[in-house]
Amino acid sequence: MFKGKVALVSGASRGVGFALASRLVDEGARVVITARGEQRLASSRAKLQAQGGEVEAVAGDIGEWKDAERMVGRALDRFGRLDILVNNAGVSMRGDFAELSGDVCSRVIATNLSGAVHLSRIAMEPIVAARGSIVFISSIAGLFGLPGASVYCASKKALTGLCESLRLELIPKGVHVGIVYLGYTEHDPEKRILSADGKPVPPDRPAHHTQAQAAERIIDMLKKRKKHLIMTPIGNLGWLAYRLSPALVERAVLWAKASKLGLYQRFS
Ligand SMILES: NC(=O)c1ccc[n+]([C@@H]2O[C@H](COP(=O)([O-])OP(=O)(O)OC[C@H]3O[C@@H](n4cnc5c(N)ncnc54)[C@H](OP(=O)(O)O)[C@@H]3O)[C@@H](O)[C@H]2O)c1
Repeated sequence: MFKGKVALVSGASRGVGFALASRLVDEGARVVITARGEQRLASSRAKLQAQGGEVEAVAGDIGEWKDAERMVGRALDRFGRLDILVNNAGVSMRGDFAELSGDVCSRVIATNLSGAVHLSRIAMEPIVAARGSIVFISSIAGLFGLPGASVYCASKKALTGLCESLRLELIPKGVHVGIVYLGYTEHDPEKRILSADGKPVPPDRPAHHTQAQAAERIIDMLKKRKKHLIMTPIGNLGWLAYRLSPALVERAVLWAKASKLGLYQRFS
C-alpha cells in the first residue's frame, strides 16, 4: 500500500526515525528524511538509497518555520505529492523543573511541539489532497506527568491535543491522524538528552523495545490507519490505571521514584 506514496519523516538521520524510513523504503515508499546535522543525514540518505530507495534529505531545524517550509517544499518539488507525515524529531530532558535552564525549556518545546505544529500545518494541503496520514511520535511520558521530565511531558502531552483536534478537523476530508506513545527505546550510541543545564548527556534508562520493533508497529498503524498506539505493556497498564485512578498512579510513581530498586529508572 506504500508503493508510489511519498512519506516525510522528521528526525530520520538516526534512531526510530531512521528505522521507520528504512521500513518505508522496504515497503516501496519514496521518502524524505530531515534532521539538523548534515553529515549524519547524508550518510543515512546514502544507506537508504543503497537499500533501493528514492530518498531526499533536507537539513534544517523543525523549530524554525522557514526550515519546515523548505522540508515540505522539497518533498513536493522532488516527488510532486506528500501522502504521509511522521512528526518524529524530538529531544528529551532530565531534571527537576526548578533546576531547568530557560534554554532547555525553549529547545524542548521548539522541537517537540512547535516543530510538529509547523510541519503539520505546512504539509496540510498536500496531505488532504492525497487523503493521507499524519502521525505524531509521543511517549509514555505523554500519557501522564512524570517527575524530572516536566517540559518533555508537557510537549508530548500537547501532541495529544494537537492530534485529537486535527483528527476532528480532518476526518471529513479522509485524512488519517494518529499518535504513538513509545516506551523507552533502544538508542543509537550518539543519542543525547538534555540535562537541566542544557548539557547533552547520554540516556540513562534500559530499553523496553528495539527501534525495529517500534518501526514495525508504526508501519502497521499506518496500514490500518489506527488512531492510537501505546508501545509497551507497562504503558498500557499505566494508562488504564491512570484513567481509573490518577491518584493511584501518582502514588505509584512517587513510590517507584523513592524505591532503592531503581524501578523508576527501569519503567519511566
Ligand atoms: N528513544 C526513546 O526511548 C523514546 C521514548 C519515547 C519517545 N521517543 C520519541 O521518539 C522520537 C525519536 O526518538 P529517538 O530516540 O529516535 O531520538 P534520537 O535518536 O535522539 O533522534 C532524534 C532525531 O531528530 C533529529 N532532531 C532533533 N532535534 C531536531 C530539530 N530541532 N529539528 C530537526 N531535527 C531534529 C536528530 O538529528 P539532529 O540532532 O541532527 O537534528 C535525529 O535525527 C522522539 O520524538 C522521542 O521523543 C523516544
